[in-house]
Parts: sequence; structure tokens; C-alpha cells
Amino acid sequence: MIAIKELTKIHTTEEVETTVLDNLDLEVKEGEFVAVMGPSGCGKSTLLNILGMLDSATSGTFKFLNQDIQQQSSRERAAVRKENIGFVFQSFNLIDNLTVFQNVELPLVYQGVKKSERIKLVDELLEKMGIMHRRNHLPLQLSGGQQQRVAVARAVVSKPKLILADEPTGNLDSSSSDDALDILRKLNNEGTTIVMVTHSDYDAGFASRVIRLADGKVVDQAA
Ligand SMILES: Nc1ncnc2c1ncn2[C@@H]1O[C@H](COP(=O)(O)OP(=O)(O)O)[C@@H](O)[C@H]1O
Ligand SMILES: [Mg+2]
Repeated sequence: MIAIKELTKIHTTEEVETTVLDNLDLEVKEGEFVAVMGPSGCGKSTLLNILGMLDSATSGTFKFLNQDIQQQSSRERAAVRKENIGFVFQSFNLIDNLTVFQNVELPLVYQGVKKSERIKLVDELLEKMGIMHRRNHLPLQLSGGQQQRVAVARAVVSKPKLILADEPTGNLDSSSSDDALDILRKLNNEGTTIVMVTHSDYDAGFASRVIRLADGKVVDQAA
């Protein structure tokens, strides 16, 4: 699903150039649940943002579902992303003035799904995720664990083939973390590919493979 070769990312600010990813090679197969680990600042989020097409590499190749993403226009990339990828962030990134229902509905609105179908899909998912009773609440009226469930629901409502999660339990207590990880594991069991950045060995235990980054390279990919 993901084939990355000699990927380099250089962040440039006014004073310095930082090589964050240095000739990195990485493959992820359809159906895998991969954890990405490594010290703070080693480029985990940068890699995830490139995989999610929110950022682009400085050089190298990135193929997603056999399409050469680096060669595509930003418009083509956006279409590939919208159709195939769901993102879960550490800080949830929900829209504060939209209800739970509206937040989860948003990707479907962007996809042009019609209203009756949106209601059906969103309500089924809220039910499945155990947050139906908070359907008309605003995000800030929910606990962290509930907010992350909403964020996961929003990421998966359009049935993406790939879920990218950047420290999804970073702001959660341990029981909410387990809930979020269980949801990801279930989705993976149903066939969704998952790449999850984490600094926690415990969280990484939910994955089927751990990729360790250091100095901008993959140093270990134990199964
Ligand atoms: N937009 C940016 N501009 C300049 N430097 C950045 C930018 N984003 C990240 N960096 C730098 O790139 C390195 C890797 O960051 P990041 O990918 O966020 O690491 P991690 O998620 O592993 O903690 C850090 O040194 C960080 O300071
Ligand atoms: Mg990070």
C-alpha cells in the first residue's frame, strides 16, 4: 500500500536547514497495523504528515496504492487523501462549534454524500463507538476519551483504507487509551491498515509491527 524509497525531508527556516528524514525506506502492506516509535524530534510526525499528504518530501519517491504521489498535483493528492485516508491527532482537532454529529459528518459532506445517507452512516458509527448519547453535544462538553472517540469516528466514517494516528492516546488517561486502542485494533481486524505514531511500548503492543526511527532513518522493523 505504501512504498517509500530514499525519502528525504529538509525543514528550512531562516537560519537553519534541518534534515529530518534522511534517505528513508519504508513499506507498509495492506492490512498491517504498524507502530512508529523513536525519540522526540526524530521525525515521526513529519513522516506521518507526508504519508497523509499534508506535507511533501524534499526528494525521494512515495507510492501509495501504486500511485506516484510525489508526481501528483496538490489537487490530485487531495483527492487521493479524501478517498483513502483518515487522520487521528493527539489533540483531537475537533471543531468546537460543531456538534459531535456534525464533526463526524464533515468528511461525508466534503465527499458529497447526500444527507439521508450521511445521517444513516454517522448514527450507525456513533452507536458502534458508544457515543450516541452525546450526539448533539459540543466537543468541549465531553471528556478527553469521548473526544478522541469522536475524532476516531470522524477519521473512519468515510471508510478509509488507511488510518494515520499521531500519538492518539497522548492526551488520554489509561482506560480511555485502552478504548481508543481497542477501536483501532477492531478496525484493523476489519481490514483497515493503520500507521500509529506512539512513544509508548504499551500502545505499540497493539500493533503487529514496530518501526523505530533514529537520525531520520528506520533503524529497526521487528515484526
Ligand atoms: N515546519 C517545520 N519547520 C522547521 N522545522 C520543523 C518543522 N516541523 C518539524 N520540524 C523539526 O523537525 C524535527 C522533527 O519533528 P517531528 O517530525 O515533529 O518529530 P517527532 O514527531 O518525532 O517528535 C524536529 O527537529 C523539529 O524541530
Ligand atoms: Mg510528533
